[in-house]
Amino acid sequence: MAYSEKLLDHFKNPRNVGTLDKNKTNVGTGLVGAPECGDVMRLQIEVDPVTKKITEAKFKTFGCGSAIASSSLATEWLKGKTVDEALAIDNMAIVEELALPPVKIHCSVLAEDAIKGAIKDYQAKNGVQTAESIVAS
Ligand code: FES
Ligand code: FES
Repeated sequence: MAYSEKLLDHFKNPRNVGTLDKNKTNVGTGLVGAPECGDVMRLQIEVDPVTKKITEAKFKTFGCGSAIASSSLATEWLKGKTVDEALAIDNMAIVEELALPPVKIHCSVLAEDAIKGAIKDYQAKNGVQTAESIVAS
């Protein structure tokens, strides 16, 4: 099976590997496992309280090369996005970008689930406030 250059690049030089302080209010953490293979992915976002944009994204993936590449790409895409924009990231976009083969599609699903998990955690911590309600409070 031939893997794409982009996939191999993200696998060999993963971007944004690391950890953010999960106790910070503006940090959301998503931790997900793939039932298909037991791989585990943790993805974290840090949201600027003023601009509401994701300023930092980090991941740690214990899993296959496609899962590592998917999460690496996801962190690149997350930076600079609003939470709403980040919610729109679809695993099939990752599949396309990395040219993942069919047996590796669930690896990209893991990345989408980790993004959604991180956003859910962030929103739970912040009561999904709008910019207006923060200004008013
Ligand atoms: Fe072996 Fe994912 S199935 S690392
Ligand atoms: Fe299971 Fe990639 S996450 S093989």
